[in-house]
Amino acid sequence: MSDIILGIETSCDDTAVAFVDENGKVLSSMVSSQIKIHEEFGGIFPEHAARAHIHTILPTITESLKKINVMEHNIKAIGVTRGPGLIGSLLVGTNTAAALGMAWNKPVYGINHLRGHLRSADLDEKRVKYPATVLLVSGGHTFLAYMKNKSDIEILGTTRDDSVGETYDKVGRMLGLPYPGGPAVDKLAKNGKPTIEFPRPMLHEKLEFSFSGLKSAVARYMTTASKLDTYENIASSFVDAAMEVLITKSKKALKQNRSKSFVIVGGVAASPQLREKALELSNKMQVELCLPPLRWATDNAAMIALATWDYIELGIHKPASPQLHLSIQDF
Ligand code: KG4
Ligand code: ZN
Repeated sequence: MSDIILGIETSCDDTAVAFVDENGKVLSSMVSSQIKIHEEFGGIFPEHAARAHIHTILPTITESLKKINVMEHNIKAIGVTRGPGLIGSLLVGTNTAAALGMAWNKPVYGINHLRGHLRSADLDEKRVKYPATVLLVSGGHTFLAYMKNKSDIEILGTTRDDSVGETYDKVGRMLGLPYPGGPAVDKLAKNGKPTIEFPRPMLHEKLEFSFSGLKSAVARYMTTASKLDTYENIASSFVDAAMEVLITKSKKALKQNRSKSFVIVGGVAASPQLREKALELSNKMQVELCLPPLRWATDNAAMIALATWDYIELGIHKPASPQLHLSIQDF
């Protein structure tokens, strides 16, 4: 067996462990979800998240090891998310990685979660060709970037306020849907029509985003409309507005920057509506669309392990200590 990396991801509410080889082949990946714990609060309860990670991290690693016939000498290094994320959650992952590194005598690399997402479209199979225009849409971030290669990243535009994933979650809550709102809103929207003209914030202004106005418009509509449309139509109208913003800005970015690939990563990249619109756009712009398979769009540890291979290649070794606020340019 060739060398492999153990990836550990505990930045938020998923305890994730994976083993990935140098070519991005995922030998094993497990995600222990905390949705059941947080759904009664309608969002993530940070203290509960940290406690749940403590309970699940070692059993998840043990079970992952059992699934593949891996010998200790095959593990080249351990890569663990060092940020951005919740302090309590990050501490569980980084401390576990540090302890395992000591016990097994393996180097431990602290990894930027966002760099993990950026690499997720190359898991299982190399898809991305550079230069690439990348749209990252997760619960914590929304931005467009231009990548000359897998480590040279230029931010083209980011959100001034909420991320699109966060907006999905809040609209989901307004519609009485379970947490996380993203998949539930998409599902409801499929059965509706975009009958309400919600705003498309900053649509014609450069490549920056803003989603708080859209979120407020949905809230205002829900509290002040004299006669509410169906929840299906409200969801569909919201998704339509969010998609128009994401696709219009992506088109602008693709026009400005010669790109071989158009890459979409992060939890919202699991949205069937976004996948469909992105395919239309990439056909029109004659650029190859690179999407991570669904299981690699939302948080996982395989993307962290793949990013660890990049750090090793570049000779970058960050400690396994939490950094709550990292930008995409940070390692
Ligand atoms: O990347 P991710 O798993 O975690 C962060 O790094 O934030 O993204 C989570 C976000 C949540 O806001 C969730 O509602 C959204 O991704 N999401 C979706 C879908 N699946 C997850 N949003 C829209 N459609 C989906 N199918
Ligand atoms: Zn994430």
